[in-house]
Amino acid sequence: MERPVQMRLLHVVGARPQFVKMAVVHRAIARHTRDSSRTGRIEETICHTGQHYDTGMSRVFFDELGIPEPQRNLGVGSGAHGRQTGEMLAGLDAFLVEEPPDLVLTYGDTNSTLAAALAAAKRHVAVAHVESGLRSCRKSMPEEVNRVLTDHVSTILFCPTETAVENLRKEGLGDPVAGGALLAQNAVVLEGTATVDAPWIVNVGDVMYDSVLHHVGRASEGASRWIVDLARSEHALMTVHRAENTDDRDRLSEILEAASDLAEEGLPVLFPAHPRTVAAMEAAGIVPRSADVRVIEPLSYYDMLGLLRSARIVLTDSGGVQREAFMLGRPCVTLRDETEWIELLKTGMSLLGGATRQRIVEAAHCLLSRGDAGPPPRLYGDGHAAERIVRVCLEWGRRSLAR
Ligand code: UD1
Repeated sequence: MERPVQMRLLHVVGARPQFVKMAVVHRAIARHTRDSSRTGRIEETICHTGQHYDTGMSRVFFDELGIPEPQRNLGVGSGAHGRQTGEMLAGLDAFLVEEPPDLVLTYGDTNSTLAAALAAAKRHVAVAHVESGLRSCRKSMPEEVNRVLTDHVSTILFCPTETAVENLRKEGLGDPVAGGALLAQNAVVLEGTATVDAPWIVNVGDVMYDSVLHHVGRASEGASRWIVDLARSEHALMTVHRAENTDDRDRLSEILEAASDLAEEGLPVLFPAHPRTVAAMEAAGIVPRSADVRVIEPLSYYDMLGLLRSARIVLTDSGGVQREAFMLGRPCVTLRDETEWIELLKTGMSLLGGATRQRIVEAAHCLLSRGDAGPPPRLYGDGHAAERIVRVCLEWGRRSLAR
């Protein structure tokens, strides 16, 4: 018989991809709560750091994905990374004192992720990191610094893949649960309890896969009218937001030139542009050469899924969009010199294009000439990552919390 436990869990989110990931975990907690046969209760609190604040970058995700209103919004907004992270840290520190949780759940690799992990670690509150173990092995990327530091102060490391598990093992964080294989669906194979000095490293699968499976069928009903119309026409879909691309005029200009080349060959490119990218294009005086590169506003989740699903090819520097393209069976040129999601490259559905016009266009031609590769292999679990996360959190609570 499982020992009942009552846990207080704080989700900290701030940037677009974190809303999507948290929505999946929140839904799994709600399902657990509704199931009266389950012992253990989780009381959730949400803190939004305010890193993303435009309606199209934040509000729309809460509305569309049915995420409850955050108890606190720190309203940090934009700024230099150190200052932005520092302001979050101060706000979170105060919130942890006001509403002390048993466990802080932090997601991905943004400045909000790191601020949550540090604030909790300094208050001796346990941290669980969702999407742990990803590495580009390039610490000039702000996201790499955020991931490495977050993993090293976390008590539960929820990995999406075996590669991620292996990265943590190499960094000396310990032996993974079940040898790093995807955690069995119902068996509890955890030993002792986790602490920040001896964390649990658990392969649960990718919450983004849970999310795609849950929402893809709803995307056509949920998508805006104009997106449904756009999705009918043949197109490529492009997103660019990484600092390494937006803050380097040459790289940004090469990417836009490659997009224009594809558009001029007859494949219009839809480009929902992150505000950072729009600002960088304006500052550098970059305007797409072809009118068939259509710069549009950032999209809601359903609109994005709709356009991804119907795209002939995807061009992106986003980790999330790379995986979503794969999960929806679309070929993808990754606009980076490396990727944390290396298993994608082995499938042949994803190629690195870097940020040079010729390489991007050649990669796109290569993928387009291959035709439909059929259903993609399963790389990211079985669509039940969030259920595993809830189960492991409760198991940790049973073993670690006195009440
Ligand atoms: C952040 C994450 C990145 C994640 C991405 C998802 C870090 C270091 N990076 O990058 O890992 O993939 O979110 O989108 O945390 N801005 C607005 N409105 C907004 C938000 C941002 O105009 O609602 C503009 C501001 O000019 C800001 C710039 O975008 O300065 C960059 O925003 P920031 O939060 O620093 O990082 P992202 O580029 O969004």
